[in-house]
This record gives sequence, C-alpha cells and structure tokens, in this order.
Amino acid sequence: MNKRILLIVGGGIAAYKCLELVRRARDKGIAVRCVMSEAAQQFVTPLSFASLSGDTVYTDLFSLNEESEIGHIRLSREADLIVVAPATADLMAKLANGMADSLAGAVLLATDKPVLMAPAMNPRMWAHPATRRNATQLAADGVHFVGPNSGEMAESNEAGEGRMAEPAEILAAIEGLLSGDKPLAGKRMIVTSGPTHEPIDPVRYLANRSSGKQGHAIAAAAAAAGAEVTLVSGPVSIADPAGVHVIHVETAREMLAAVEECLPADIAVCAAAVADWRPDSEGAQKMKKDGDKAAPGLTLVENPDILLTLARHHTLRPTLVVGFAAETETVIDHAKAKLARKGCDLIVANDVSHETGIMGGDRNRVHLVSSQGVESWDDMDKAAVAARLVSRISELLSTSHKSD
Ligand code: CTP
Repeated sequence: MNKRILLIVGGGIAAYKCLELVRRARDKGIAVRCVMSEAAQQFVTPLSFASLSGDTVYTDLFSLNEESEIGHIRLSREADLIVVAPATADLMAKLANGMADSLAGAVLLATDKPVLMAPAMNPRMWAHPATRRNATQLAADGVHFVGPNSGEMAESNEAGEGRMAEPAEILAAIEGLLSGDKPLAGKRMIVTSGPTHEPIDPVRYLANRSSGKQGHAIAAAAAAAGAEVTLVSGPVSIADPAGVHVIHVETAREMLAAVEECLPADIAVCAAAVADWRPDSEGAQKMKKDGDKAAPGLTLVENPDILLTLARHHTLRPTLVVGFAAETETVIDHAKAKLARKGCDLIVANDVSHETGIMGGDRNRVHLVSSQGVESWDDMDKAAVAARLVSRISELLSTSHKSD
C-alpha cells in the first residue's frame, strides 16, 4: 500500500503501544511520519519514533528549523490520513474547540485529510460530560474513531472503558480508511432522527425525550461510507452531521412530506421517535386558564406512520427499509410484531425504559430483528452502533442485489 500517514502521538501511557503501530504500519508499506505532543515526550522519546519511522519527528510549533524545512500546513497535507493515538482528552478537546496552540492542534486544524482518533484515557475522563460532548462534536465534524476498549487500565485498581484500541485494531481502521472503501458509494439514503413536536397552541406542544443522537450518528456513518444522505430531523439540540443534507422539520406530517420528497432512495432508516398522536387542532392563540373552569381536554388524532408508508410504498419502496423499535417491556416480541406490521426489512430494537438511560444518552444496546432471526449486540457507543449498522446495511444491500 503506497500511502502515508501522519501519526500524532498524545501524552499517555498508551504512547508506547504506538511504537508497535508504527512498525506494523511500515510492514504493510505505509509510510509514517510522527508528531509528538509535549506530554507524549514524557512517556516515549522522539528518538524511538524517529528510529522506527525512519523519518524526522516533529515536536514544536515554533521550532524555526522544522518550520523552515516543512511548515505545519505542509505536514498536515502531505499525509493521506492523520491518526491521533493515543487521543487524550486534551487533544480531543483541542480539536473539538478548534484550538491551534500546539503543533498537534495546528496540524489537525489545518488538514484537509481524514482524521482517525484512537482515544485513551481514564474511564472517568472518558465518561465525563465534557469528553462526551467533544466526542459527539468530533464525530459530527467527520472525525473517525477506533476504540476505546474496555478493560484494565495501566493505573492499578482502575477498569472500564478508556483503554486505547490495540495496534492491530488501529491498523485495521487505518487500512480501511486508506483503501477508500466506500461500500455505500452511489446509494441514496434517507434517515429520520429526533422527536417530533406536535403543537397544542402557539407556545405548547406534545413531544418525547428523543435526542436524535442515534439517528444523527447513523447519517454521519452512512455519509462516511459514501452514501448520499438526507437527514430529516425533528427539533434537536445537537449539531448537523458533516457531509449530510439536513432538512429540519417540527411535526410528523412535515417529516412525512420531507421524506416523500426524497424518494426515490435505495435505503431508508427511520430512527425518529415520531409522536404517534397530535392534538386534533392547533389553537390559534395561547390557551388561557379561565377562573375555576376545569382543565381543557385534549383530543388526539393519530399521526401518519412514516416507516410504514415507506415500507409499503407501491411504487417507490426503497430497496432496504430499516425501522427502530423503542420499547419498555418485552422488547424482542414487540419488535417482531412491529417488523411484520410495518413491512420493513429490519428492526433495530432497544429498551428505552428510564433506567437504561438510552433515550437521550450516549450509549445503546440493540437487538437486530429480521426474518432471519434476532441478533443482540453488546452495549456500545451510539457512534459504534451506527458504524456497525451501516456495514450491516451495505452487506444486506449487496445480498439483496445478488438475489434480484
Ligand atoms: N414511526 C414512524 N412514524 C410514526 C411512528 C413510528 O415512522 N408515526 C417509526 C419510528 O421511526 C420507528 C418505528 O416506526 O422506526 C417504530 O416506532 P415506535 O415508536 O417504536 O413504535 P410505534 O410505531 O409508535 O408503535 P407503538 O407506539 O405501538 O410502540
């Protein structure tokens, strides 16, 4: 493989594993040039990386020597891929916030190449809301992730999610990105995401707790896999994913209209938590309390079912229609019933009971229900669920074409 990566080594004990990564990458014919953060040099010497990479190691934004040889802009452009390993909480925060106060930060901000991060940090740091926010932002900006894994940490008595992925796993992710493998290239995909808001009057609405995180992550992963993605999103507070056409809607009826506008499509993934009902009419003015009169009653009418409309479309049914099933009990049985009722090809079922923290949270534990049976996946990051689901979708699509 005649490719070049720029490896940014962050300051963490996992930095030593990156020596093996450099060796393995070069064995595969991938040229490696290294940038080391100041903290990284406390763990491993630049000389070790220079010896293994056979190239200069860059360490300081303001080193005149280095700048006269090769500026940080060139450094960031001459590689086919930038790899950050270990991606510390600090390096993630720097890129998520666009800070260029170090060579690593400046290179990451200046690059026009894909970026792969292999996070490594203490489990509490990984779970901290600030790191979660940064990871979500980076994923939305198109950064790819490998790991972290769960297990024992270098610190004694610490275990949990935060271990850097193994060099072999990082190398596999590097090879995947360098090969330019775009399994969904040329495919049109519609993704619905988020809740819908159903107005009662100009200031009130019916809604649900959906955050849109899972649907948005699927749209981002599909775009990374080469699909031309339209994301139809209800009102959410997260950013639009990079590389995706986004249509913002409020109500179920607007969502259906936007989805129908996007047809024909090869794939539809309905991840939105569409409100099942809406008030039968929207008050023109704010409803007022009126002395001791009883509270007003709401009359609800059923909303259109977007998933069912797509899956049972007579003329423009997408080749693959995927639905979600948000359940709070007998998850698999309800999902099987939904698969049959809606007529879709695959249901991704999850338990959204309050205790699971899935609705609104960053992690998900899903069961894939299809005519082939049920497959349960471990609990993982919503971005990881999205990446795995997208590769499953491309497999299903290629087998469905073969059987055409
Ligand atoms: N869905 C949809 N339009 C609706 C309701 C649901 O497109 N009006 C889709 C969701 O996006 C999801 C699937 O249908 O992919 C299942 O949604 P869920 O809320 O789990 O089930 P419901 O169809 O609402 O059924 P129930 O309320 O009986 O659980």
